[in-house]
Amino acid sequence: MKYFFTLGIHPELSISEIKAKLEQKNILYSIITRHDSFFVIETETEIDLIDILNQLGGTIKIGEVVEEVKMINQSDLLHHVKVKDDKKNSFGISGYNCENDFKRVGLGIKKELKNKGFSMRYVDSKENPLSSVIVQKEILKKDGTELCLLKSNNTFLIGKTVAVQDFQKYSHFDYDRPESDSKKGMLPPKLAQIMINLAEKNISDIIYDPFCGNGTILQQAILLGHKKVIGSDNDEAQIDKTTKNLAWLKENLKKEKVDFSEEIFQADASHESKLESKSIDFIVTEPFLGPPLKGYETEGQIRKNILQLEHLYENSFTQFNKLLRNDGVIIMIIPSFYIQEKVYHINISKLLPKNFTIIKNWQYSRENQKVIRNIYKIDKK
Ligand SMILES: C[S@@+](CC[C@H](N)C(=O)[O-])C[C@H]1O[C@@H](n2cnc3c(N)ncnc32)[C@H](O)[C@@H]1O
Repeated sequence: MKYFFTLGIHPELSISEIKAKLEQKNILYSIITRHDSFFVIETETEIDLIDILNQLGGTIKIGEVVEEVKMINQSDLLHHVKVKDDKKNSFGISGYNCENDFKRVGLGIKKELKNKGFSMRYVDSKENPLSSVIVQKEILKKDGTELCLLKSNNTFLIGKTVAVQDFQKYSHFDYDRPESDSKKGMLPPKLAQIMINLAEKNISDIIYDPFCGNGTILQQAILLGHKKVIGSDNDEAQIDKTTKNLAWLKENLKKEKVDFSEEIFQADASHESKLESKSIDFIVTEPFLGPPLKGYETEGQIRKNILQLEHLYENSFTQFNKLLRNDGVIIMIIPSFYIQEKVYHINISKLLPKNFTIIKNWQYSRENQKVIRNIYKIDKK
């Protein structure tokens, strides 16, 4: 079986997340091809695409590869469009790594199937590929077909979309919670979800966020099925927000019979912790990233901020070392600063205890951001 994943705006991160999830689920796979906008794998056994997609923060669409062709032509595509004679059949076409205009082919398919007596609707949009909102509302909800044409080297893989990312669910758990911090620059829930997945830990493992803010990481861990979450923050007001948000989440998940236990308390992450040593399986966190920046700070000011952050992170790592079990994992954001055309980095290797190893790091940033997030995966031995 061949499956495709279309990727969010940080493909490296999305692909690492997919690999981590497949490994966590013990799914053996080989990589068929990859591109900035998609990733294609082959497996021996069938996989539950909807279940996998629901767990991934960095994948937009998921589906099956049904054919490989040298050139796109109407008849190759037509027989993959699902048709029933008792309803209006919706279908759409999206191109990945190809700029082709599919309107002519789409309208041609519509005409041919209409001539065969089927009622057809070709879903068209100015956007190529079709957005997940359009695909969900106009195609999948109506039991229609989206064909994704994935150009790889000199061939096209024809994919049939099975599911798209549940944008309504993300929006609900982001904006409807009582303490939704909609300030620009807050940690997006999808990124929190990716970070948790990168840790490759089981849902029975205990997760700790020592800079929990309003609890986004803990919330996403619970939505991924984690049963026990621990959070702390040095700011009482943030603790209050996390507590309210998790109470709201518990209420929301009651009907689905999802239960979890949480431990939330005020603490400075760089000081001696009240938690038992070696009681934590993994830490996922976005720490304090420094004071807000205007963009015209001097080099001296940025270097001073960096020194303060290094001090906080180094002392926090010392505490994490005590709290984590020996095979513990840390997924942590470390900032870089982009000020007046210059990038300033924090050298985290020199801040880590000797038994900590950096496994990998990824960059997450949008254009013109002053604070660039670098996501580090660190193992404790
Ligand atoms: C970037 S925010 C984290 C936001 C969080 N990921 C969220 O989604 O809400 C950093 C948090 O670290 C807290 N903080 C700052 N210094 C701290 C320290 N020394 N110990 C613990 N928490 C600290 C701040 O109060 C803030 O809530």
